[in-house]
Amino acid sequence: MPTINEVTTLEVKEEVAVITLNSPPVNALSANVREGLNNGVSAAIEDNSVKSIIIICEGRTFIAGADITEFGQAPKGPSLYDVQDMIENSPKPIVAAIHGTALGGGLEVALTCHYRIAVPSAKCGLPEVNLGLLPGAGGTQRLPRIVGAQKALVMMTSGEHVPANQCLEMGLVDEMAGEGELESDAINFANKIVSEGRPLVKVRDADDKIKGDKGNDALFAEFRKSILRKTRGFLAPEYNIQCVEAAVNLPFEEGLKVEQDLFMKLMTGSQSAAQRYIFFAQRQVTKIPDIEKDTPLKEINSVGVIGAGTMGGGISMNFANVGIPVTIIEQSQERLDKGLSIIRKNYENTAAKGRITNEQVEERMALIDGQTSIEALDSQDLIIEAVFENMDLKKDIFKQLDGICKEGAILASNTSALDVNEIAAETNRPEDVIGLHFFSPANVMKLLEIVRGDKTSKSVVASSLAIAKKIQKIAAVVGVCPGFVGNRILAQRQREANKLILEGALPWDIDDALFDFGFPMGPFAMSDLAGLDIGWNKETSNGETLRDVLCEAGRLGQKSGKGFYTYDENRNKSPDPEVEEIIKKFGEERQAQMRDISKEEILQRCLYPMINEGFKILEEGMAIRASDIDIVWTNGYGWPVYEGGPMFYGNLVGYDKVLEWLQNAEKELGPEFKPSAYLEKVVAEKINIL
Ligand code: 3HC
Ligand code: NAI
Repeated sequence: MPTINEVTTLEVKEEVAVITLNSPPVNALSANVREGLNNGVSAAIEDNSVKSIIIICEGRTFIAGADITEFGQAPKGPSLYDVQDMIENSPKPIVAAIHGTALGGGLEVALTCHYRIAVPSAKCGLPEVNLGLLPGAGGTQRLPRIVGAQKALVMMTSGEHVPANQCLEMGLVDEMAGEGELESDAINFANKIVSEGRPLVKVRDADDKIKGDKGNDALFAEFRKSILRKTRGFLAPEYNIQCVEAAVNLPFEEGLKVEQDLFMKLMTGSQSAAQRYIFFAQRQVTKIPDIEKDTPLKEINSVGVIGAGTMGGGISMNFANVGIPVTIIEQSQERLDKGLSIIRKNYENTAAKGRITNEQVEERMALIDGQTSIEALDSQDLIIEAVFENMDLKKDIFKQLDGICKEGAILASNTSALDVNEIAAETNRPEDVIGLHFFSPANVMKLLEIVRGDKTSKSVVASSLAIAKKIQKIAAVVGVCPGFVGNRILAQRQREANKLILEGALPWDIDDALFDFGFPMGPFAMSDLAGLDIGWNKETSNGETLRDVLCEAGRLGQKSGKGFYTYDENRNKSPDPEVEEIIKKFGEERQAQMRDISKEEILQRCLYPMINEGFKILEEGMAIRASDIDIVWTNGYGWPVYEGGPMFYGNLVGYDKVLEWLQNAEKELGPEFKPSAYLEKVVAEKINIL
């Protein structure tokens, strides 16, 4: 087969030039791929025996986008625009033959082809927004011309991968191929285009789908409003919208200039740098250095969950959602019924929103079998304990499980802070014991901390990672330490937030600073949501903490209509002078020195100790790499992705500046700010940890 370059071949079959790209893993548009396309297309144009051309890929997918690893490097080889120009202006029809995913630059190449054919399992999308970018190779101008402004807005601001049948409906794909028959069907399609004398369609020249929306400012205003809540703080969605506006209102070439200008702004900004970092961090997090790829996996076809409370119910839903039967154990029929009814209600709410069908509700409920005896857990492959956070209780349960569960079953605890090694020591099979720390609500939150005990076997860790992927969680492997990675870092922020209140910052000052930084809510609004009385006891409460005083005053949080804030009937919060009074009095009794505290200081006080704790976690080997910590915080605690997570953000501020701030804080405020030795080393030796 004639070779164009190391990733490209060209073969003429039935007068069709078949240009095949083969650049694993995802045929990204690296310099090599661009060169292959460039030289392949020009050779095919020059070859007189060729009447038409198809571009097709080997491996798991069509071109999945620009090569993100090349971003920020000096350009090499032919530019993507030159390649696209050659394709679009080819005198012979060119067909993109799509399988897998045609994404970003990949779809933009396909949009310069005259026709597109796809297999039913293929998907198309412009997911640049998820990397803090916009499609920068004409996609913002071509997509609206083919699918209309509204659909382009949705695709570009959500980054969704649209299934081939929907692409066909909206005109993005012209023809469907048989699954597994892509090349032969594409050849037939190309020959048909030639024999029927079909035109060389240039998407850039089409305007029938957009002309009706010219000057329709309301369309864009409404769309902006509709995505506001989801996209707060992110620059890329707004810039994508501006590009579609340009596509609708300006000639193609002028629209391209708008696209280029906004693309460069995003590409050189810190948001996209953070989002691209998170993209790779997310792919790295499941790679565990000492666990080989061929580590034997335990099959998980059935699950047992102990406790049908807040966590147990949500955890069970994850498995039922992917067709895995769950046996759920409660201590009484009454609690079991309550737990099961909450699960049902959750599913019914989802069905009411149209996200699943009523049949699916019943199918999933049928997969969840409620029992009141732990003896029923004798055959399941994975058991997850989610009873009260009490070490003695958990130890007792694991002792029982050791006697009941089948050999080789994975025994997991959902504890949020307790010592997994101590729990494992209650069994004669500590190698099968692990922490699987889900986050609340467990059926919604993406994060799973996989807590690897000292004796946990590699196979159990690898199997936990595999099941996490199956239930669509983002898993990070962490070590055994109080609070693991996420809650351990959270404790730093919570401590400082509480202290700041007695130095003069009000709860809403602190919440506002963190909200403006990009968190969905601050620590006090969060406490109100969870309930201030969690772990509080009316009988023993003695007004020692501010929380005690608030609870004693009946301020239990959102559920009682007031906590740190006061809530209206729609649960909208507002600052409350009564709380200010309570804080003032509480402070006076303790001779607290109140002062004005700036937003900047609030952020430093709350965030820098978190970064410091991250370094301590790395120093102790409780997280494998800095980016794993960022995955935990962006997926489990609402750290804004465009700020990259605490470790990325620390680097953005400058680790040297964070260190200097901590050194001063240690002197002025106390030993809790003592810098981690690893942070000192990283700064002194300029080590790159990201
Ligand atoms: N560039 C470089 N490497 C890429 C890449 C890309 N665009 N897309 C994926 N990879 C790498 C991943 O880092 C991973 O590498 P690893 O094996 O060394 O960890 C490998 O390919 C496989 O990726 P996944 O693990 O994600 O594989 P999946 O099969 O689960 O998913 C995928 C495949 C859907 C293609 C997914 O990788 C993906 O969504 N990729 C990004 C797509 C994207 O964002 N494209 C737009 C790029 S920006 C652009 O095109 C700008 C243009 O407008 C100018
Ligand atoms: P919960 O109080 O809502 O539920 C615990 C359930 O366990 C109760 O329904 C109780 O009846 C049941 N239970 C107690 N002993 C039992 C026994 N011997 N056999 C069977 N069932 C028994 O508690 P929640 O919030 O679900 O927490 C469970 C675990 O998950 C705790 O370890 C907690 O630390 C952890 N966790 C909690 C999170 C949260 O946000 N609520 C987040 C992450 C972890």
